[in-house]
Amino acid sequence: MEKSTCEVILQPIGKHIRIPVGTTLLDAARQAGVELVAICGGEGVCGTCRVCPVSGPVSPPSLTEQAELTPADLSAGMRLACETEVLGDVKVDIPPESFTTPQRLQVEGQEAPPELAPAVAALDVDAPPPSLDDLRSDLTRLREALPDPDIHTGLPVLATISETLRRNNWRVRLALRGDELVAILPPGEGLYGLAVDVGTTKLAAYLVNLENGDTVAKSGAMNPQIAYGEDVISRINHANQHANGAKTLQGRLVETLNGLVDELCAQAGVTPGQVVEAVIVGNTAMHHLFAGLPVKQLGESPYVAAVSDAMEIPSAELGLCLAPGAVIYLPPNVAGYVGADHVSMLLGADLQETAKTTIALDIGTNTEISLFHGRKHWSCSCASGPAFEGAHISDGMRAAPGAVERVRIDGEAVQVHTIGEQPAIGICGSGILDAVAGLVKAGLVDKRGALKGEHPRLVPDDKNSAFILVPAAQSGTGRDVHVTRQDVNEIQLAKGAIRAGLEILLVEAGIEAREIQQFIVAGAFGTYLDLDSAIAIGMFPELPRERFQQVGNAAGSGAKRLLLSNRLRQVATEIAQAVQYVELAKHPDFMKVYVKALGL
Ligand code: FES
Repeated sequence: MEKSTCEVILQPIGKHIRIPVGTTLLDAARQAGVELVAICGGEGVCGTCRVCPVSGPVSPPSLTEQAELTPADLSAGMRLACETEVLGDVKVDIPPESFTTPQRLQVEGQEAPPELAPAVAALDVDAPPPSLDDLRSDLTRLREALPDPDIHTGLPVLATISETLRRNNWRVRLALRGDELVAILPPGEGLYGLAVDVGTTKLAAYLVNLENGDTVAKSGAMNPQIAYGEDVISRINHANQHANGAKTLQGRLVETLNGLVDELCAQAGVTPGQVVEAVIVGNTAMHHLFAGLPVKQLGESPYVAAVSDAMEIPSAELGLCLAPGAVIYLPPNVAGYVGADHVSMLLGADLQETAKTTIALDIGTNTEISLFHGRKHWSCSCASGPAFEGAHISDGMRAAPGAVERVRIDGEAVQVHTIGEQPAIGICGSGILDAVAGLVKAGLVDKRGALKGEHPRLVPDDKNSAFILVPAAQSGTGRDVHVTRQDVNEIQLAKGAIRAGLEILLVEAGIEAREIQQFIVAGAFGTYLDLDSAIAIGMFPELPRERFQQVGNAAGSGAKRLLLSNRLRQVATEIAQAVQYVELAKHPDFMKVYVKALGL
């Protein structure tokens, strides 16, 4: 009798595989074409194939695992992939060190010129040492050595005062945020700031020199919350449905951010104690989960934020290990589904004072779009779904080595390019976009997304017709990598939502698409997508190509600008207050426009 099968979801790359019950996680990963580090070849003796099953039934830890893993690892749910058998549908989190090749993370963004007026400034001080004739406290003698002694500080900074003064012979550098003492450092030490874009899928982090505005280190990581849900709604559900669910999500994020801070500081040769300010941007749900704000109402109509104002929170309160008095600035949110990351993206793309008719969008599971026209500004959020993240696509995966990222269909020839030029194991967002556009251009798909016509790669099978992008013999999985009608329909839903959102904003402004003077595409997917393909499937309007700009991680660039300029923080608040948020769900034209936008 054939063994029953189950589904394994490998996170964070989002690869799904169906395998017989009883298969080890190492074999499941191999069959999915995902290479894990397995130095001993699966003998259970090297301890390198560490993974963390987060839901679904697996075999209990074997004696080998109990010997190889520490009690702390075991109680954190860590397992050896070569020893763990899958007993049902399972979701597994793969830590970065267990991948043989790193994920592709987008940290670069177009840079607007920095304005240098940060919230924290350095002040060098010589304090008089104490003596039998001068028994003033360390804080008093430090205060009285200042031009303005009226400074305040908290216990975390005071805990460092005596040792730092003595170790540096009473000559120190103070990091002052107005009259708030943030850190006492050795003389001459530089002051740095941390800027982070917390995406639902990825984190991009930057370390910035606050004195000259230079980015001295940058790095990225996957958002560890992905193990608890791929999208915002499933994270909100996790927070609501599990005791300490929100705390777990916050803790995992803070832990990863602390790891990034250590990595950035090591890259730049500075200490976390020199990081005196942080700016963290994210969509409204990521913002609320990070700050410990309630998220239940974000998952229920009418989807309102708990807080939309800009916030300043002591980093120590959130467990972020920076200078003892460092403050984290969170820019304002616009609405439940247009977050601080969108405001930051607009600043990163330098659009705060644009006089041009401009569309700016960042494509994700939710796509936030802004339209600037005639000194007015509208925004909306479209439920574009996770198809461009590779989810809900039969061979979909995130942008990782082996993902098909480019497709050209030229007559009978089909050319594909994979990330890292590795054998294809799946398709990421830009690849599926190209594939659908190629099928449209080749006349192999009808308006409703049904595959049709004659092509050697087309497998006609009425309902289950598919187009083979990479035949089994050339793939990294031993199976065809293909696009199905269902996949085409998923892309239609995603692009339909984006185009409809864009059209509704144009309706609100009373203008037509051809009047758009600049079209800014931000974000990781936006960086890699092919504009011709996006236009061919009707996701973007047909405009002269020079009006488009793909600006990379503009939300990250905006976070850096906010780190360096107090004035821009005020501008961020003005943007959030001035924007007219358009709720698509209640717009009278939305359904009509959406249905029209679905066609290919
Ligand atoms: S591959 Fe060596 S312990 Fe699993």
